[in-house]
Amino acid sequence: MSTVAPTGLSLGSLHVGTPVVLAPMAGITNAAYRRLCLEQTRAQGGDGVFVCEMITSRGLVEGDEHTRDMLVFDELETTRSVQLYGTDPVYVGKAAEILCAEYGVAHIDLNFGCPVPKVTRKGGGGALPWKRGLLAEILTAAVAAATPYDVPVTMKTRKGLDDDHLTYLDAGRIAQETGAAAIALHGRTVAQSYSGVADWEAIARLVEHVDIPVLGNGDIWEAADALRMVEQTGAAGVVVGRGCLGRPWLFRDLAAAFAGDEVATLPALGEVRDVMRRHAELLCRHMGEERGCKELRKHVSWYLKGFAAGGTLRRALALVTTLAELDVLLAELDPDEPFPAAELGTPRGRQGSPRARIALPEGWLDDTDGTGARLREDAGEPTGG
Ligand SMILES: Cc1cc2nc3c(=O)[nH]c(=O)nc-3n(C[C@H](O)[C@H](O)[C@H](O)COP(=O)(O)O)c2cc1C
Repeated sequence: MSTVAPTGLSLGSLHVGTPVVLAPMAGITNAAYRRLCLEQTRAQGGDGVFVCEMITSRGLVEGDEHTRDMLVFDELETTRSVQLYGTDPVYVGKAAEILCAEYGVAHIDLNFGCPVPKVTRKGGGGALPWKRGLLAEILTAAVAAATPYDVPVTMKTRKGLDDDHLTYLDAGRIAQETGAAAIALHGRTVAQSYSGVADWEAIARLVEHVDIPVLGNGDIWEAADALRMVEQTGAAGVVVGRGCLGRPWLFRDLAAAFAGDEVATLPALGEVRDVMRRHAELLCRHMGEERGCKELRKHVSWYLKGFAAGGTLRRALALVTTLAELDVLLAELDPDEPFPAAELGTPRGRQGSPRARIALPEGWLDDTDGTGARLREDAGEPTGG
């Protein structure tokens, strides 16, 4: 187990200078948000992998308009990274080929962690690794399609279905055997959804179990947590999700931390306002003003978490329709209000409660292979991880 924090991250032939991955988050990690985080990282001289929202293999292969719309990249993104969802090796292979040939991606991640019942009920996301044979088939198809382009394929998963049906160690072995460049582990089971605390010991066990890089995921709220995770687990890098919601400057702190510096960005409300404005501007640039402003709305409460900004202003911001209106509202914020230090190190974003029962296809647990199974995959699965 390493005690020295890694200074970079290699996924196959792809190398980035900071061992930090922006977690794929449906509805969040679009081109605008990825650029916003990238700008923060670069401001600190850092780098990383910034993963696009999950897209479905079938949607991509069948030319679904919504899927294609999501595959937009910012000109600052020199390393295009996309997460694919899929349950059918043929579709996943074709989708991987399209991503490499038509979209010039530099990294493909496969989603085997989604806990959403609509997905697991069909055997997808976090349910799929239970079928070891099918998992191997899907990974093999993606790796075969991406290898001619020298594009690394990784997988992202959870510990298992629940504590009695763990899959992550087998998944790690299968990822390694099929040529995946790394495996990311969110230290929760599907049954836990986002509740409880991420199990970093499982990440350490996976590191011991495989030779490919393991990326640790779950409950990194501050840069210090990221350092602690790699120290405790030996992970090659970290995947950061909810901790950066309304706090894209976390990537600045992470870049500093992995470079051996200590930077804790504590923006006063005036600086938070400027970041919100920048976020809105990027969203509008990529999506047009109407959709961009609509997208920004969901971020308002995260940006203002812990600040004193009043309910009327918050509600108005959560209904904003134009940049001009946004400017008027942002001007009402007190720029000198200091960052609410009590928010540091605390969970943000969805937490939810554990599920008593996981939705699975009939007889799913009866065998652990699934080779040759062709599960029905919709073009537009609900997204999530
Ligand atoms: C709003 C939201 C959307 C998510 N969407 C995805 C997704 O599409 N694919 C995926 O693998 N994980 C998804 N996740 C899970 C995250 O990538 C990550 O694994 C999880 O949030 C745990 O990391 P964290 O504690 O740093 O947030 C999503 C999480 C959130 C909060």
